Amino acid sequence: MKIAMIGTGYVGLVSGVCFSDFGHEVVCVDNNPEKIAMLERGEVPIYEPGLDDLMAKNVAAGRLNFSGDLPKSVAEADAVFIAVGTPTRRGDGHADLTFVYAVAEEIGKAISGYTVVVTKSTVPVGTNRQVKQIIRKVNPDAEFDVASNPEFLREGAAIDDFMRPDRVVVGVQSERASDVMQDVYRPLFLREFPVVMMDLESAEMTKYAANAFLAAKITFINEMAALCERVGADIKQVSKGMGLDGRIGNKFLHAGPGYGGSCFPKDTSALARIGQEHGIPMQITETVIKVNNEVKRRMIEKVQDICGGSFNGKTIAVLGVTFKPNTDDMRDAPSLTIVPALIGGGAKVRVVDPQGRNEGEALLPGVQWIDDAYKACNNADAVVILTEWNEFRALDLKRMAKKMKQANMADLRNIYSPIEAKRAGFENYVAVGR
Ligand SMILES: NC(=O)c1ccc[n+]([C@@H]2O[C@H](COP(=O)([O-])OP(=O)(O)OC[C@H]3O[C@@H](n4cnc5c(N)ncnc54)[C@H](O)[C@@H]3O)[C@@H](O)[C@H]2O)c1
Repeated sequence: MKIAMIGTGYVGLVSGVCFSDFGHEVVCVDNNPEKIAMLERGEVPIYEPGLDDLMAKNVAAGRLNFSGDLPKSVAEADAVFIAVGTPTRRGDGHADLTFVYAVAEEIGKAISGYTVVVTKSTVPVGTNRQVKQIIRKVNPDAEFDVASNPEFLREGAAIDDFMRPDRVVVGVQSERASDVMQDVYRPLFLREFPVVMMDLESAEMTKYAANAFLAAKITFINEMAALCERVGADIKQVSKGMGLDGRIGNKFLHAGPGYGGSCFPKDTSALARIGQEHGIPMQITETVIKVNNEVKRRMIEKVQDICGGSFNGKTIAVLGVTFKPNTDDMRDAPSLTIVPALIGGGAKVRVVDPQGRNEGEALLPGVQWIDDAYKACNNADAVVILTEWNEFRALDLKRMAKKMKQANMADLRNIYSPIEAKRAGFENYVAVGR
């Protein structure tokens, strides 16, 4: 099977590399020439554990190539995947489909022989039909089908998620397209991972429904955490007690500084818009978006509390700024709300993040980047844990407290306990929901 992957970002690159590891012949295409040049040199433009080795292995085996030449790559492919970005459209919160439609037009012009055009990008219901119309319009004789194949991988665990998925969702309109998609995912079929075939609209909806549900679960526990603080309960114990119920499950029940990242904020916003447009307001999702924004604001108040009510003149060490550990992705990270609020209040902010600096430098102007948590805490008035990178999970709290001018900690990922912090010499320790 020959596959062309259009868009070589987080999803396109991981999917392309993994498809080549399945044994397919894959070309990853991007219109960013610098990205293609980097990939051709064997460099991986993003941080994703294990991706560099798997990429090198499949390039060496001759199954994986990179190209800026979309027409040639599409003409030679049996299946063409669209994996370009669908960010939030400015002004109305809808998914911006400009990139998807532009690529559909280019694909249409280049198709030769029967081809399945598969949308992997997260797109609103009706987009695949629109892609079909665009291709038909630019190339009335093209022999093709469209398919929807939303991606569920998590950054930071993307390869494992792709190779051992909970399920693969495929929306198709014809047997022929279904056969091609089954060939694409044959290695997963053989290992009995569920590959769920459905219609186009249901596949498109499944992705939004899943992400909105997960965002709601996180937001539910974050709201519970606020109440726990007020009534003297401990959210960690509440989460454990809830999560052991098989109907609920323990995943996505960790209270923290609010969800962020490349998907949940934009997908909840797009789903809210889709609901409004169809006269079925997504009231739960709309509330989730509102509560999540409040959660981030509540975190700023927590840090302010341990700083004695004001950030002015304070030096604050922030540990972790990427939206979650094991990625360098900063898109919509809670740090982008919290850190500017500290700086705006007059604080000097030092940031430590194992992978965040490349992207973060432009997004967090005015912070000082430091490569070591203890150095960052030297003479500081407070330390804030924002992202639970492994290296922040086993800090020597005693050593840290000793270095600080004022030993204050806001542990916004509930890594440590109030007792531990107190024993180590922290005067003030606040966490989330305890
Ligand atoms: N990042 C995730 O964890 C994740 C998970 C599941 C689904 N998704 C969805 O997958 C899609 C892609 O997300 P991403 O995070 O990989 O985006 P990204 O921004 O990292 O990558 C998009 C890539 O497409 C390229 N591109 C744009 N226009 C192009 C064109 N005309 N021709 C060729 N290349 C072009 C860009 O240069 C970029 O490299 C989105 O719809 C997203 O919602 C993302």
